[in-house]
Amino acid sequence: MKALILSGGKGTRLRPLTYTGAKQLVPVANKPILWYGIEAIVAAGITEIGIIISPETGEEIKIKTGDGEQFGANITYILQEQPLGLAHAVKTAQPFLAHSPFVMYLGDNLIEDDLNPFLDSFKSQNLNALILLRKVSNPSAFGVAKVDEKGKVLQLIEKPKDPPSNLALVGIYFFSPAIHAAIAAIKPSARGELEITDAIQELIHQQKTVEALQLIGWWLDTGKKDDLLEANRIILDTCLTIGIHGDVDSQSAAIGRVQIGKGTKIINSTIRGPVIIGENCHIENCFIGPYSSIADRATLIDADIEHSVILQSAKVIGIQQRIVDSVVGQRARLELAPQRPKALRFMIGDDSHIELV
Ligand code: G1P
Repeated sequence: MKALILSGGKGTRLRPLTYTGAKQLVPVANKPILWYGIEAIVAAGITEIGIIISPETGEEIKIKTGDGEQFGANITYILQEQPLGLAHAVKTAQPFLAHSPFVMYLGDNLIEDDLNPFLDSFKSQNLNALILLRKVSNPSAFGVAKVDEKGKVLQLIEKPKDPPSNLALVGIYFFSPAIHAAIAAIKPSARGELEITDAIQELIHQQKTVEALQLIGWWLDTGKKDDLLEANRIILDTCLTIGIHGDVDSQSAAIGRVQIGKGTKIINSTIRGPVIIGENCHIENCFIGPYSSIADRATLIDADIEHSVILQSAKVIGIQQRIVDSVVGQRARLELAPQRPKALRFMIGDDSHIELV
């Protein structure tokens, strides 16, 4: 059994963060989204992992993620020259996949469930495909499955205008090598991509064994800001390990579940967990409220934040109002104007979003 993680694409829905980096490397609780997928795959006993990368962000993913040693895996990077669809990515990975069955995992998906029961079900029934489904309120944004009362998959449609059900295809699939012939038989969709949804539909058409299981736990497709904040909240709630490795001075308090990295200084501040603060940060005269993730080398002085994600080397200084539900990008600066006239001064990147009250 091998794994194929898809980590290409342009991440348009997470702009401006994705102008300078891959969407799969945006951190959730200070860890790249992609790494959660790698860890879940390794926990299911699969260590031969191929990662599909794009020419734009592939190098960054390779440098950060490495050859897999830190995960106990062996990672092969596979370049997909153009974003021509998920099934095209599988086609590109054919030399790596060879005749092996594999789990395909979209690098921006996060699920609560352990992969093992799904893998067992796929293997024990000798299936050609096992797909995972989850009820959603906006099925038109996903691939959608029509199933009969016994759970048998009757039809799959990608982003239907008129969805036949509210069961979305989760971005985690288990395939036998039969998927390659199905991909060879399909044509690009209206958006010009070879859709994996169409390839699975082709398997159904060829009378191959395709089963579906519904996810019980949460599923997050972290492609947008609110999904990212929600993923951050859930991970801090469920997976945060407590540990104070930095300096918390006697005027400060760290209350509840808090993790503080090495070299970080907390001065005259209150940290109310769950909160994660990375390494070499400077936090002074602040209130850091629940569900905040602050990445390495960030500086926060005279600021109150909660339910927010602050990325590497960002600075938030002298902001009087509490900052909530926010994502602040790498090296971004939010500061109180040092000189008169006291006014709002902006240097805002393309596609940024600022709400003032
Ligand atoms: C892709 C799949 C879709 C699936 C979704 C899950 O969509 O094409 O069927 O429901 O991932 O995240 P995309 O995110 O590429 O629009």
